[in-house]
Amino acid sequence: MKFGFFDDSKKEYVINSPKTPYPWINYLGNQGFFSLISNTAGGYCFYKDARLRRITRYRYNNVPIDMGGRYFYINDNGTIWNPGWSPVKTELDSYECRHGMGYTVITGKKNGLKAEVTFFVPQNYDGEVQQVVLTNESKEAKSFSIFSIAEWCLWDAQDDCTNFQRNFSTGRVEIEGSTIYHVTEYRDRRNHYAFYTVNDDIDGYDTDRDSFLGSIYNGWDNPATVKADKPSNSFADGWSPVASHYKKVTLAPGESKTLIYILGYAENPQDKKFAAEKPANLLTRETWVLNKEKAYAMIEKYNTPEKVAAGLAELRSTWEDLLSIFNVNTPDDKVNRMVNIWNQYQCMVTFNLSRSASYFESGIGRGMGFRDSNQDILGFVHQIPERARERLIDIASTQLSDGGCYHQYQPLTKKGNADIGGDFSDDPLWMILSVAAYIKETGDWSILDANVPFDDDPNGKHTMLEHLNVSFYHIVNNLGPHGLPLAMRADWNDCINLSCFSDTPGESFQTYTNPKFKAEGGYSKIAESAFVAALFTYTGPAFVGILEHLGKKDEAAKAQAEIDKMKKNVMESAFDGDWFIRAYDANGEKMGSKECEEGKIFIEPQGFAVMSEIGKDQGADIKTLNSIDKYLNCEFGLVLNNPAFTKYYIQYGEISTYPGGYKENAGIFTHNNAWIICAEAYAGRGDKAFEYYSKIAPAFTEETSDIHKTEPYVYGQMIGGKDAKNFGQGKNSWLTGTAAWNMVAISQYILGVQPVFDGLKVDPSIPHEWDGFTAVRKFRGATFNITVKNPSHVCKGVKTMTVDGKAVEGCVIPVCSGGTHEVEIVMG
Ligand code: GLC
Ligand code: GLC
Repeated sequence: MKFGFFDDSKKEYVINSPKTPYPWINYLGNQGFFSLISNTAGGYCFYKDARLRRITRYRYNNVPIDMGGRYFYINDNGTIWNPGWSPVKTELDSYECRHGMGYTVITGKKNGLKAEVTFFVPQNYDGEVQQVVLTNESKEAKSFSIFSIAEWCLWDAQDDCTNFQRNFSTGRVEIEGSTIYHVTEYRDRRNHYAFYTVNDDIDGYDTDRDSFLGSIYNGWDNPATVKADKPSNSFADGWSPVASHYKKVTLAPGESKTLIYILGYAENPQDKKFAAEKPANLLTRETWVLNKEKAYAMIEKYNTPEKVAAGLAELRSTWEDLLSIFNVNTPDDKVNRMVNIWNQYQCMVTFNLSRSASYFESGIGRGMGFRDSNQDILGFVHQIPERARERLIDIASTQLSDGGCYHQYQPLTKKGNADIGGDFSDDPLWMILSVAAYIKETGDWSILDANVPFDDDPNGKHTMLEHLNVSFYHIVNNLGPHGLPLAMRADWNDCINLSCFSDTPGESFQTYTNPKFKAEGGYSKIAESAFVAALFTYTGPAFVGILEHLGKKDEAAKAQAEIDKMKKNVMESAFDGDWFIRAYDANGEKMGSKECEEGKIFIEPQGFAVMSEIGKDQGADIKTLNSIDKYLNCEFGLVLNNPAFTKYYIQYGEISTYPGGYKENAGIFTHNNAWIICAEAYAGRGDKAFEYYSKIAPAFTEETSDIHKTEPYVYGQMIGGKDAKNFGQGKNSWLTGTAAWNMVAISQYILGVQPVFDGLKVDPSIPHEWDGFTAVRKFRGATFNITVKNPSHVCKGVKTMTVDGKAVEGCVIPVCSGGTHEVEIVMG
């Protein structure tokens, strides 16, 4: 069952029922000011950091689920409704929500009145613009009123939802004309404020939540002021400050009125915090006056429909440019819309927000993850390489000089989070992968010379190359008894915690280490990760390639020797005959082996092992891929492990605490499905690669949205696996490494358009039925129009390649300094 459709020409998903199986959201803003907005206008706004600088409130774990946001209420002669249906939930005569690239348009109609609300955050602007167009489509004149509402968060979202004893007494506002200012704590220690305005005179307002609602027993679905068609003109003094505008409107038949609301954020320098004079119309109960110059300028910027149209046009053209860098035309529309629109869009969102704020991440939990953000770059780097470079330097600066990493950092402070700490065994390797991806995309080798400090030597002179070096050797220097990397607190799988042995409620599996490992430095020196071994052999060659490019032959050979040794160790100790084992636990027992009672096979090490060609000469690659198909493949994707754990294995940590079929315990973790898609494509099995791709790619789940539940335009982290009661049900949509990795899987492995150090490789691995495809790829200043022909209907193999009519040996397009070039590839 579907709840909407893709409008590819506009790059929009159009939702035509407000009652989607879960709130289907969009993200507005891409640099400083961000909003989350659901199809019923739920959500919230923040500036840069969803935890430390929250602008509007949201209620977690609420019933009903999606409560809080910015709402418009219309009172049309006693019929009260919202353009987005919620929170009043009056049945509308028609409803539509269009989620587009950085904007959302929600349109409702009731009794001949149409309200179309466009929400967006303009480029380089710290505010959300909400344009409301009201049209009288009836044959009679209409008089009605419209109320706006936004509830302020008292800045620190964590504190805001816990520290009521203080917060119920600190709220402060100022009101000037049609603008309501939120100035809690401004006088003392903060230099920022927020405002909500409308570009017209108003007929009343409210700034105190309970006055707006009329009673502490009312909810957002039943505000007394709206019902009475009478604002209470309340002035907030503590409790919960809000901003609501009241406006009466009369429209002749066919007439429209446009109102532009702006929800903005501004900061003042310390010496310009206060205004010298108090304007006559200012309502305040303070002796000081906020300096509002910045707000005035922001309001001026979008106070007419023409200016709003220009702002929207600028946003649209920004996205047209971003999406023109890589564009394909394949025989499958669903692939085209994923690659050309939605997967790239999601990669921007994950790049911006890491795992901080979504409808499954509260924004008060995690900051930016070291491994997460490095992986996010893989899917994003072609869009705005300069931002990727800046991010790489920020992340690397949280690394320690021995190659260890803080697992997370807070984007506002850019400092590693001490409470989470480090010792996640995979973290350093992702940095090699992302820096290499950046160089392959841009050819900008200068990043290696960039001055990047270590967290434990903030003033020292260190280069990015040194960071890669310590990353690589952090693995080499921390091997266990079988010569495999130590597993430490966890590797990519946060829930395999081999040094934890937790038997006490509340202990964090990621940060708690059993005291028995204290003397050994905080984690077992026996437990080893075969996954990190395979990730090492997969990423290591990029490091070797970098050293070779720099002419550091000896260092390259030394690193290569470590990779070769690791491959040998894996084959000797971690190949189980038909697949690679997952780990050795702290008791020295195999995990993810035929010998195990449950969890005999895990997905994670397999893809990287296959792509590193470990044991390829003995057929290990194909055996492994066939085992995955046999044990992990099911209707909705590949499960993480099989059979699911049904008991608690204290020696494994968090993983076996999940009911079978969910999350890391045999859920379909879409992130690592991509690694298998890549591996199948690498092995030349394009049909299988595409089968796995199409099982999880969101556009392919649209028809079964009632089962899949989450948005059909973006990936979620997890889909309930075959052992789950809710088999096929998606969760944790939007913020997941799945976005980047599936972008890599489809573009670089299946379609095979892959930046390499010395050019652009094109080596497709596609379904054999395809006659071919075309692609446009802008790369290092040149544009390549690529035509791939598949006359013999093979899955893989480039027979000939020409660039501008001239034959090229192999399948790498050499770097061209500019211009547009025609590339033709014949497979066979
Ligand atoms: C989540 C985390 C990611 C981790 C994965 C597997 O997606 O964000 O860092 O690798 O779970 O545990
Ligand atoms: C990751 C995992 C999740 C785990 C969490 C702990 O998000 O996906 O299952 O609980 O990490 O940090």
